Amino acid sequence: MRQRLRRFIRRGLEVTGMIGPLHRRQERRLARESGDMFDDQRPMPPAELMAVVSGTAGQAWFSERGRSDAARFLELAAAHGLDTSGPIDVWDLGCGCGRIARWMAPDVIAAGGSFTGSDINGALVAWCAKSLPGRYFTNRLRPPAKLHAGSVDLVYAYSVVTHLREKGTRAWLAEVARVLRPGGLALLTFHDEDYASAWGPPEILPALEHQDYVVWNDAMEGSNYMSTWTTRRYFAEMATPHFEVLDLMPGSLEVAVQAVAVLRRPG
Ligand SMILES: C[S@@+](CC[C@H](N)C(=O)[O-])C[C@H]1O[C@@H](n2cnc3c(N)ncnc32)[C@H](O)[C@@H]1O
Repeated sequence: MRQRLRRFIRRGLEVTGMIGPLHRRQERRLARESGDMFDDQRPMPPAELMAVVSGTAGQAWFSERGRSDAARFLELAAAHGLDTSGPIDVWDLGCGCGRIARWMAPDVIAAGGSFTGSDINGALVAWCAKSLPGRYFTNRLRPPAKLHAGSVDLVYAYSVVTHLREKGTRAWLAEVARVLRPGGLALLTFHDEDYASAWGPPEILPALEHQDYVVWNDAMEGSNYMSTWTTRRYFAEMATPHFEVLDLMPGSLEVAVQAVAVLRRPG
């Protein structure tokens, strides 16, 4: 009964748009609360930006997970045939405040390639542009992105379609394919059934039994307030019109690492 009342009130806040200021207030509180310091000799974003993307302002987590996600993406790209030791053009879609770009961009540029990041949040993009190597721009919630067709070798998006409705995810799959060169790779993370079982709200797994794509907290699309969930089977189905699906790596049950789809634009 109490749960139903809570859900009813929450829906009211969502429908009236009042959830926005409340969510921002929560982000500001998180920024004030969880501020451990960690010096990794790279520009560190301010706490309030970290809280927007990570739900915490912990610098050690931000640094270590950014470094390991960047390394994992490069390893995955190399394992699927991209020569990451030479010059490659990389796009970080939904770059946030550069958690991964802080590690990826210097290496890509040092190898003679180019690095581009984009995000819907102008404050995050402004910090990246001021603080990190590479080119950064703001894109809209839906495509297109200001990038030429066939101009990029590798696109990655960590925890981005996890905040989009199905229509948005499908639109970005098509856009990523447009921007990739033939043979180029996309590494897109998503909330799959394994991630849901370990880290999701308890309602998600049962919902996935009869729904292909579940939207949790249906408001403020693109922000961390909304999260979306699907199965590996259905993600592959959405990607198939545009890509060869090379691998679908399950979300981790031990640490909160999302599922990764490894996709290749047919060449
Ligand atoms: C959970 S954060 C992850 C940020 C970053 N990828 C990382 O791993 O730290 C999600 C990010 O996706 C961005 N975002 C959401 N929808 C987007 C869209 N349609 N296009 C670009 N960025 C988007 C948000 O603004 C936010 O910065």
